[in-house]
Amino acid sequence: MSELTVRIAGWGKYLPARVMDNHEIERLVDTSDEWIRARSGIVERRIAADDETTCSMSVASARPALDMAGVDPLDLELIIVATGTPDHPGFPATGSLVQQALGATRAGAFDVGAGCGAFGYGLVAGAQFVLSGAHRNVLVVGADVMSRVIDWRDRSTCVLFGDGAGAVVLQASDTLGGLRSFVLGSDGCGAPRLYIPAGGSRQPASHDSVENGAHYLKMDGRDVYRFATRVIPESILGALVKAGLAPRDLDLLIPHQANSRIIEHARKKLELPPERVFVNVDKYGNTSSASIPVALCEALEQGRIARGDIIGMCAFGAGLCWAAAIWEWN
Ligand code: UT7
Repeated sequence: MSELTVRIAGWGKYLPARVMDNHEIERLVDTSDEWIRARSGIVERRIAADDETTCSMSVASARPALDMAGVDPLDLELIIVATGTPDHPGFPATGSLVQQALGATRAGAFDVGAGCGAFGYGLVAGAQFVLSGAHRNVLVVGADVMSRVIDWRDRSTCVLFGDGAGAVVLQASDTLGGLRSFVLGSDGCGAPRLYIPAGGSRQPASHDSVENGAHYLKMDGRDVYRFATRVIPESILGALVKAGLAPRDLDLLIPHQANSRIIEHARKKLELPPERVFVNVDKYGNTSSASIPVALCEALEQGRIARGDIIGMCAFGAGLCWAAAIWEWN
């Protein structure tokens, strides 16, 4: 009997139509196109329209993924939405809204919250449901509307983020490959380095919290930068070792798109040539949970992934946390 594996049978992405370039941000805060490009590699980002939400963008990325996989929403057994910007704070899960919008009436649904690392966690979790034999068709979405939690007066954060969504359909398979290994990690000491102070149970919404801007994302950029440059190579190496592989075996590294300097640092540390590392942070900024699935979609659209290729994915962010996965494209 052949071994049960998991494959990515379909993928899709959604980026809001509205493009906001660095020059537009120059008019909001004391910054410059030169600074943003030099320090982050970002040139422009997408901003959700007023009527767009994490749910609506999730659905817009999921539909093409389901079509490609040839999976009817009625055959979906599980929906996982990775997000840090759910439509509602906790109740209900955005996953349930996506389930309803897709008409996936036989699917269970839940959200994964792990900052910008959430899609990595969601992908690994979804794969486990398939590999255990529990489910044959699982939808994993990464979506965030960062523009709604950004303080547009804070130049240290507002230049970095953008909105978007990406989705994959995971399917049971008997072809070799799929998820070869993964590493999940967390260091909660770093929680105050990247967080939204209010709006949760620790500091519920109040007049004061709104007045103090406590519902906006706060970040210690330098600390998170140090963390990110360490954690990408470490977690990818850890996952490669578990799979019995080395960096030279990586055909494509898809790191979380937070900053081109962080990515470049990781590339050098892993001694990978530039063509083996995917970068699109210039076009979309940091789309948090959407960053890896959107990058994966674009890498596939550009023909940069072929059957048998070894793909490394590394998500990281608030927590602080990280999730690295080695995927053999099947
Ligand atoms: O997905 C979540 C993960 N998040 C990240 O991975 C973000 C990680 N951090 C970073 O990407 C970088 O730290 C930043 C891009 C946020 C900042 O780059 P940096 O090279 O670390 O700059 P810095 O924070 O050390 O700031 C350098 C200077 C400061 O001025 P002084 O103190 O040297 O006078 C800042 O006040 O740049 C100033 N600065 C700005 N200047 C123009 C900070 N933000 C801006 C800005 N425009 N937008």
